[in-house]
Amino acid sequence: MTSVAVLISGRGSNLGALIEAVARGDLKVTIRVVVSNRPDAAGLIRASAAGIETVVLDHRAFARREDYDRALVDELTRRGIELVCLAGFMRLLGPSFCDAFADRILNIHPSLLPAFPGEHAQRQALAHGVRVSGATVHLVTAELDGGPIVAQSAVPVMDDDTEALLSRRILEVEHRLFPDAVARIARGGWHIEGRRVVFPAE
Ligand code: GRF
Repeated sequence: MTSVAVLISGRGSNLGALIEAVARGDLKVTIRVVVSNRPDAAGLIRASAAGIETVVLDHRAFARREDYDRALVDELTRRGIELVCLAGFMRLLGPSFCDAFADRILNIHPSLLPAFPGEHAQRQALAHGVRVSGATVHLVTAELDGGPIVAQSAVPVMDDDTEALLSRRILEVEHRLFPDAVARIARGGWHIEGRRVVFPAE
């Protein structure tokens, strides 16, 4: 089974969705380790409760981003990690990390990319006045939120939406989308054509 690392910085509800999908048998991977760059991330408690090893790699202990990325690569390669899932990991990963795990890093982002990359995607969507937003799972490249798209799911934006309401609506679809996308990528047989991820016929 594919050996997965999940990287978090906070709440960890997407991590929770992955753990539950594995427990249900819908996601046939092993979550080998959960890494957080913040010692107080609530997701660490979720991981421990599920019996998953946790590692805190605090970015404040590293002078340069490059050193942090190398330490992260080291933690993951040492454990034989084959696929990395970014689940609310709020750190930019540089070329040494992206190259070490090329085409083996997935991120979930709360907008329909390429619209609204970067922070506060839901706030950006509301400010822009879009009528539809959603969530995207994509492969991670050195370009922020710019890698090939694996899966997307849309939600409506309501007239009286607030950032909190829209975030909650998007989060609900994230919790289905991410485990599904991880499962499809872990099954293999896909390739990349230009910017497109092409899956085998089911
Ligand atoms: C999610 O909205 C995800 O799309 C974004 O960060 C948030 C993480 O939430 N990248 P959680 O920690 O999984 O609850």
